[in-house]
Amino acid sequence: MTASAAAPARKRLFIRTWGCQMNVYDSTRMADVLAPLGYAPAEAPEAADMVILNTCHIREKAAEKLFSELGRLREMKRERESAGAGMVLAVAGCVAQAEGAEITRRAPWVDIVLGPQTYHRLPEMVARAARAGGAVIETEMPVEQKFDHLPEQAAPPGITAFLTVQEGCDKFCSFCVVPYTRGAEYSRPASAVLAEARRLVAAGAREITLLGQNVNAYHGEAADGGTWGLARLLRELAEIPGLLRLRYTTSHPRDMDEALIAAHRDIPTLLPWLHLPVQSGSDRVLAAMNRGHKAADFLRIVERLRAARPDIALSSDFIAGHPGESREDFAATLALVREVGFAASYSFKYSSRPGTPAAGAPQQVPEAEKDARLQELQALLREQQDAFNRSRAGMVVPVLLTGPGRHPGQVMGRSPWLQPVHLQADAALVGQEVQVRILAAHPNSLSGVLVSGEAASHILSAEEPAPA
Ligand code: SAH
Ligand code: SF4
Ligand code: F3S
Repeated sequence: MTASAAAPARKRLFIRTWGCQMNVYDSTRMADVLAPLGYAPAEAPEAADMVILNTCHIREKAAEKLFSELGRLREMKRERESAGAGMVLAVAGCVAQAEGAEITRRAPWVDIVLGPQTYHRLPEMVARAARAGGAVIETEMPVEQKFDHLPEQAAPPGITAFLTVQEGCDKFCSFCVVPYTRGAEYSRPASAVLAEARRLVAAGAREITLLGQNVNAYHGEAADGGTWGLARLLRELAEIPGLLRLRYTTSHPRDMDEALIAAHRDIPTLLPWLHLPVQSGSDRVLAAMNRGHKAADFLRIVERLRAARPDIALSSDFIAGHPGESREDFAATLALVREVGFAASYSFKYSSRPGTPAAGAPQQVPEAEKDARLQELQALLREQQDAFNRSRAGMVVPVLLTGPGRHPGQVMGRSPWLQPVHLQADAALVGQEVQVRILAAHPNSLSGVLVSGEAASHILSAEEPAPA
């Protein structure tokens, strides 16, 4: 026992994540924070000494899912306790931030409630929870920045990794809780971002997605004392050897400036893909939403992006049935969708969020009408997505191989447009970008064959053209 005496006891941690990619990133960082305490990943909550639910508050249903999950966990916790083991139960994320008191009232078996800005203090909270009789609640938004207090990554990243560069939002769209749950806009210093990116690449990441609630509003302090926007940051990141692909999400049309559009023209590793939420195609609704731009502004941005990078594909977010949205307003959204042609999209029925301006607005759209509009919108978006996927068939596209496929000899990869691609290839190629001829588009993926790549040439079939 001499060598391991100082090492913390081995414990198991299970994290369940809802919501946006920022929450996915936060979950990995919470695991990093807890690793020095001896926590390693558990396969299932039943086997875990600690369970963290990392929650999302964006729509009503998301919060309700939390309470049903907490009900199930109460039983598991009881069973573990009667078997002589314990379970520390923590609720993190945006519901914790918005409804901390409500959580401890409705689910007093929760030990820790922590907001998105406090997870670097988890070890201390775990210690306090062990001593305390009741729940430990940490939901203030401290001035100190959590990023300064986070350890370096403990777990190796995948081939594709996330990196948060910006957090919070000052835009206060009428419908949205994010400015309240994530706080004011904050950009990490450029040097911290570059250092984290280098570490990710050294540990095996080949594609990095920069994250922020308003990622293109990034304005980070630079080493030279100036401020870098996202375009400059991307240019510097693109210089990191071994980093094959860059993406960023989520952007706001208002911050889609000339420099960023030029970055799409000039940086080959910046993927031809942009998620740019527009929410509505009606100027009246866009104004009511406080989005700060008109439909024509969005169309102009799309035009400039396509001129800069002709193979760029766009995805977007839409809300159907915002308060005050008439049939004509909704028709304007359908018209914008038809005009742009999106490769993928997320669309939601407006969900009233307590405390946001739209929640108290008159002219709420009846539920049945919201449903009908959402279905009509989703049918159109689905059609466009299928058409986009089908349009890849026959093309030769670069695919970043990310891991083994479901069948023997198969590997999975990702197209530049986020589509999963499966093909027969040597698993030793995982981590490389290879050229793949797309043969077929399936509802949620593409399939293809390798057409080149030195290591791959031995499995080229006779009818394939020789690698250039
Ligand atoms: N920062 C991003 C969006 C973050 S929230 C932006 O500015 O676009 C992700 C998406 O959830 C939003 O784009 C919006 O489409 C949707 N959403 C946010 N609040 C919502 C609400 N109250 N009801 C329905 N959808 C909502
Ligand atoms: Fe929410 Fe609007 Fe901020 Fe996006 S820009 S996070 S939709 S308030
Ligand atoms: Fe949800 Fe919070 Fe992200 S509300 S969408 S987890 S910022």
